Amino acid sequence: MAFDDFLREIGNFLKEDQIITDKDNLSHFSYDATERHSLPQAAVLPENTEQVSRIMRCCSMHNVAVTPQGGRTGLSGGAVPVTGGVVLAFPRMNRILEIDEANMFAVVEPGVISNDLQKALNERGLFFPPDPSSTVDSTLGGNVAENAGYTRAVKYGVTRDYVRGIEAVLPSGETITLGGKTLKNVAGYDLISLITGSEGTLAVITKITLRILTRPRVRRTIVAYLDDLVSAADLIVAVFRTGIMPCAVELMDTIAINTVAGYLNIPLDRTAAAMVLIEIDGHSEDAVDNEARELHALCRNAPGTFDVHLAADDAEADRFWLSRREVLPSLKALGKDHLEADVAVPRYKLPFLVRFVRNLKHGDALRIATYGHAGDGNLHVTILYRRRNFAELDEAYRLLEQIYRETVAMGGSLTGEHGVGLTVMDYLPLQLGGEVLPLMKRVKDAFDPKGLLNPGKVFKGPDGSKKR
Ligand code: LAC
Ligand code: ZN
Repeated sequence: MAFDDFLREIGNFLKEDQIITDKDNLSHFSYDATERHSLPQAAVLPENTEQVSRIMRCCSMHNVAVTPQGGRTGLSGGAVPVTGGVVLAFPRMNRILEIDEANMFAVVEPGVISNDLQKALNERGLFFPPDPSSTVDSTLGGNVAENAGYTRAVKYGVTRDYVRGIEAVLPSGETITLGGKTLKNVAGYDLISLITGSEGTLAVITKITLRILTRPRVRRTIVAYLDDLVSAADLIVAVFRTGIMPCAVELMDTIAINTVAGYLNIPLDRTAAAMVLIEIDGHSEDAVDNEARELHALCRNAPGTFDVHLAADDAEADRFWLSRREVLPSLKALGKDHLEADVAVPRYKLPFLVRFVRNLKHGDALRIATYGHAGDGNLHVTILYRRRNFAELDEAYRLLEQIYRETVAMGGSLTGEHGVGLTVMDYLPLQLGGEVLPLMKRVKDAFDPKGLLNPGKVFKGPDGSKKR
């Protein structure tokens, strides 16, 4: 059998404990943070680029599918090995290779946990802005593959804005080196940006060169509670008309507030219909305080606001930000199934999107929580339902499709940061019409002519049937 031949061959250059084939241990590699899962035939843990290259060569030779995995915190099923085959996981390629303070770059292997890089930089007064909610589990390889977003993206940009160099292995086994430590580089097509966010479908990332910054010395956090969700969205649009650029402007609706307040036992105002969290950062205390004062006044005078609070110190601010970070885990702890629309619209459309979601008609059994990176126009609209109840399942998917159609009508995107993977794949043609998807498929074929790398993702299968 081809797969046994493949295993024998990689066994010639890998140690026994680098190849996992027993079912119990394999189940660990079968899922991500969605409700999707599928067992691979083997999981392989390479220790260096050379091994990745040799593994890919063997996969190519024996037509074995490969699904690269990071911390399995993805929210679109991108790391789920839907066609079986091999999972490539990187716990043994987890070294921070360099923190170059002279040039302000960090060079890392793909398996480095996001938070480990944050801690190493923090000790030196530096920081890497992209810091997803999943920071303690997600890996930098996964974050780059998914072009992860996070709360500070509104000021600092997303993961892609920091990737300046990539070493990657093509499905054929060839290693390519792109970019490096230059801040500017227009030599040829921007394959770095293409591989970033390609969801593990084009190449296996083995080394990443990331731009880093000096950590801002001062930060202030404002919390505004409002009695109406659409008013909160209006306030967020107004914040950006002041000319002040906060580093985060986040929104939580009453379900998110109440769920996370109970989960963390944190005193948030549970009577509020909406909570807006704003952070301003910078290097000058006076400048940051002035901006905080101006935004505090704006919040206080905004229609619908009934309470505004300036965090007394960083410890209190951290508690508010923890409440934001833990919304998804708290929703999951409710024990319901959830469908999430990670939609992004032009910022000025935010109040319209929020109103649309609020007015969606649905049965009492379903609930819709809305929270997310409102300053970016990116919301996580989360439908809570019971999968085993067919009526609820149907209704949940009907609502999801309505949200997607409205998003596209507003000139928005079906996913702002979580990726297409499995969960958005069926709906992608709503957004990418004409020649766009076929062109993307031709790019995929140029990298991966045999279709072995992360198959079954992004592009809908030939039967076109929707996969739940
Ligand atoms: C967040 C994740 C779900 O914003 O993207 O918490
Ligand atoms: Zn998010």
